[in-house]
Amino acid sequence: MAETPSGMLNSIGLQGPGVNDFAQNDLVWLKSVGARVLASIAGNTAGEYADVAAVLRASPAFDAVVGIEVNISCPNVANRGLVFACDPLSAAKVIALVREKLPRDIPIFAKLSPDVTDIVEIARACVNAGADGLTMINTLLGMVIDTDLLRPQVAGVTGGLSGPAIRPVAVRAIWQVRAAMLEGRIPTVPIIGVGGVRTGDDALQLVAAGASAIQVGTATFNDPSAPIRVNAELAAALQDKGFARFSDAVGIAHTRLDPRR
Ligand SMILES: Cc1cc2nc3c(=O)[nH]c(=O)nc-3n(C[C@H](O)[C@H](O)[C@H](O)COP(=O)(O)O)c2cc1C
Repeated sequence: MAETPSGMLNSIGLQGPGVNDFAQNDLVWLKSVGARVLASIAGNTAGEYADVAAVLRASPAFDAVVGIEVNISCPNVANRGLVFACDPLSAAKVIALVREKLPRDIPIFAKLSPDVTDIVEIARACVNAGADGLTMINTLLGMVIDTDLLRPQVAGVTGGLSGPAIRPVAVRAIWQVRAAMLEGRIPTVPIIGVGGVRTGDDALQLVAAGASAIQVGTATFNDPSAPIRVNAELAAALQDKGFARFSDAVGIAHTRLDPRR
């Protein structure tokens, strides 16, 4: 990992014990403590995503799973390493295959990459292929060079940029997709917002752009209880601003555009 201004670059890959171990051990433990699990899945080929979903479904603790997030920001080994999230056809194929493996009442969220020319096009492909919601955004591809050694600072050369530095990109991506939904260009589905959230006010920006739920990633590195604090701060901010219900604030900024535009 490398520090960056207001963020960090990571190239740790997808560490974990593997889906079989997760399904037999971690998920069973999560169920035993009453957790509601939104499980993130990944694969090297479209078929592998479906296999991972099938292993989860077969777990004795599958009833703890309330939804599946499909991390399509992985290179497609069968297609020159082109990242699934950067190609509407590959993204749609993954979502359709995963959808087939899961019961209808388990929502699927496609997690999108901001590293595309038109994120609305990818969102449309995923929703049309059966995604019940979208998570935005994954990290941005970045790179840091160590100026003493004059070589890339992370072993993977490039890495994923996260933290407050990327929050404006997350707000923009959520805004664009929500706008497309409001204009009927793509079907309306819920958006989970993620990217650079450290405070309740940060979360409120993503909500006002169109997110119905918030994830907190990098901020947990220096404050492991950040999600709980952000939740409380967001609730207080909404109350201060007179919102009776959280849902009234979702996408509110779309109704408040500056008339001078
Ligand atoms: C160390 C680290 C590991 C991550 N691993 C994953 C992952 O396995 N799957 C995934 O979909 N996103 C992963 N992400 C991306 C985050 O979930 C999130 O989309 C991104 O970091 C932006 O949010 P943040 O600024 O709150 O961290 C990772 C991020 C970091 C910093």
